Amino acid sequence: MSELDGRVVAIAGVGGGLGPLVAGELAAAGATVAGTDRDQALLDSLAGELAIPAERWDGRAVDMLDEAAVGQWCAGLVERFGRVDGLVHLVGGWRGGRPLHEAPLSDWDLLHDLLIRTVQHTTRAFHEQLAASEHGRFVLVSAKQAQAPTNSNAAYAAAKAAAEAWTLAFADGFEPGGATANIVVVDAILTPRMREESPGEDFPTFTPAEQVAEAIAFLCSDAAEKMNGQRLRLTMGR
Ligand SMILES: NC(=O)c1ccc[n+]([C@@H]2O[C@H](COP(=O)([O-])OP(=O)(O)OC[C@H]3O[C@@H](n4cnc5c(N)ncnc54)[C@H](OP(=O)(O)O)[C@@H]3O)[C@@H](O)[C@H]2O)c1
Repeated sequence: MSELDGRVVAIAGVGGGLGPLVAGELAAAGATVAGTDRDQALLDSLAGELAIPAERWDGRAVDMLDEAAVGQWCAGLVERFGRVDGLVHLVGGWRGGRPLHEAPLSDWDLLHDLLIRTVQHTTRAFHEQLAASEHGRFVLVSAKQAQAPTNSNAAYAAAKAAAEAWTLAFADGFEPGGATANIVVVDAILTPRMREESPGEDFPTFTPAEQVAEAIAFLCSDAAEKMNGQRLRLTMGR
């Protein structure tokens, strides 16, 4: 019997750089994986690439900025599988690289939506399912910048800090025991595609996507049932 046999884990933003590896890792551990992203064609091709059996895969395009649609996604999964045990939030995006007094405030608007509003929508929609599950899990992937902001990354750092605070508040709601909500912290993620595109390049501060996926699977497992409201740092240095 595998670690996550019989559990249903949803992944928001499964089509990005990290998502396929997380889906593969969770499926290999026995979970049924429900992935969503913006693009249905991408989700359909992903199921084939990952070779997840059809009965353990559900791919539906959902705009995570549409709260009603996120609620319908959750309801659809409950209708198909009877419940949802986990929600891994991988929706992302980045703007930055200019001093904060020069960067347009529209960067903040975009990052607010991508990094905060989508976390609000998923946590609110899936709360009832996660709280009712014996193995309820929520995982956010955040950035070291949230705790150590730099001037040229102010909007991104502030948005990730807000998403972390929201996640910790979500975790607090699960006390004293039961479901959990935790944060995996990286500096940046090294994906297989980046390795292919830049062979020979060293990415010393990057965390391999495979390791992030393993950490997420760990947080979804029974071994992490006593971890709630914590930051699991996969970074070097302080
Ligand atoms: N990559 C890094 O170095 C890094 C560093 C620190 C933290 N993180 C966090 O780790 C997580 C995974 O990273 P990643 O690089 O895989 O993320 P990503 O590729 O930027 O985003 C993941 C997926 O979310 C989708 N998405 C964006 N807006 C959406 C919406 N409104 N509705 C539905 N799907 C939407 C994206 O689609 P589109 O491509 O169409 O936008 C993408 O396929 C993210 O939360 C990210 O913030 C990443």
